[in-house]
Amino acid sequence: MAKVTVGLEVGMEAVKAVELTHRKNSYQLRKLARLEIPFEDHDHTKREKIIVKVIKDLISKYRINTRRVVSGVGGELVIVRRITLPLMTEKEIAQAVRWQAEDYIPYSMEQVCLGFHVLNQRFSGEKGEEMTVILVGVKRETIERHLRLLRQAGVSPQAIDVNTLALFNVFQLSNPDETDGIAILEIGHGTTSIVLLDKGNPFLIRDVNLAGFHITETMAEEIGTSFATAEEIKRRYGLVTSDGREREVYFNDELKELTIKGKVDKRLVDQIIRKSMEDLVEEIIHSFEYYSSQREGKPIKKVVLSGGTSQLHNIDKFLSEELGLPVKIISPFAKIAYESKKFQPDYLARVGPMFTVALGFALHEVKEI
Ligand SMILES: Nc1ncnc2c1ncn2[C@@H]1O[C@H](COP(=O)(O)OP(=O)(O)OP(=O)(O)O)[C@@H](O)[C@H]1O
Ligand SMILES: [Mg+2]
Repeated sequence: MAKVTVGLEVGMEAVKAVELTHRKNSYQLRKLARLEIPFEDHDHTKREKIIVKVIKDLISKYRINTRRVVSGVGGELVIVRRITLPLMTEKEIAQAVRWQAEDYIPYSMEQVCLGFHVLNQRFSGEKGEEMTVILVGVKRETIERHLRLLRQAGVSPQAIDVNTLALFNVFQLSNPDETDGIAILEIGHGTTSIVLLDKGNPFLIRDVNLAGFHITETMAEEIGTSFATAEEIKRRYGLVTSDGREREVYFNDELKELTIKGKVDKRLVDQIIRKSMEDLVEEIIHSFEYYSSQREGKPIKKVVLSGGTSQLHNIDKFLSEELGLPVKIISPFAKIAYESKKFQPDYLARVGPMFTVALGFALHEVKEI
């Protein structure tokens, strides 16, 4: 019987699920579901309760199959590093990873859960044939908190993955020919994941805690509105195309007044978004420079955008100007079969980038028990 899996991403803004049927050599999309987590300044425990309720609601509203669920964690606290090891068995890798982890992970070893992923990459090194392994270290409390949320919502996941690796898996499936000098950027609400590819494999993986939330927060501060209004302004107007940049913009009181009265000056919104993205752009440029310095000057050639913030109007053009590179938006479902009656192709093209990570979790090969 064809196997059904669900990828469940508990993001900062929304919970997302992708239900897939795994066939012999293909996948079929069954369901896409997304529910936002109501934003309120609750304390930690209250917020957990709200998230649990959102997960439960999503499952019952969309009748999500909870038999085989894969979920995952992300953010700056998740450490992902690429290491090279001599060719060895899986058992030996686990041992070697444990040894090496102390050099890469800034927490005491009792506090972390370790994992690894062997990349399909072999080469001749100084000590004979070598292979590349991705080492993952996550604080035990991060995993435990995530498992607690899922279990309280009635979900026992079959595996816990890492957002960045899920992102890479989706890109690899949908763009098998693009292997070198590619930057995949998943810009969500709280986190931006940066995955830089070399010879078809991740060379550098990083999460930065700056994304859509920071844009909205800056907007709310600069124009003196509530977070909800700032969010609406951000989504409605986004960035003006390049010509808007040359026009002068004044941050004077009159413009603020206009904004508050509901007449939004597009150039002001544009200016605030640009300003709020400066630090993130700088982090991206640093990562590109590091990549290039480690690869004898070979540069990043192309950027692929994913995540909810990829829907910000003109963000592709903005990043293309800032980084001096072509930017395209990911099509995560490019190699997934679906009924066009159930999912309109233009709907999938629009919302698809929000489901990349959840899709990556659903692709995870869960062993039959
Ligand atoms: N049309 C739009 N224009 C601008 N921003 C948008 C639009 N639609 C969604 N967003 C932004 O996308 C972000 C949510 O994206 P996403 O669903 O990928 O985040 P998340 O997975 O919940 O968060 P994270 O992965 O960071 O924990 C929010 O910041 C939201 O404001
Ligand atoms: Mg996300």
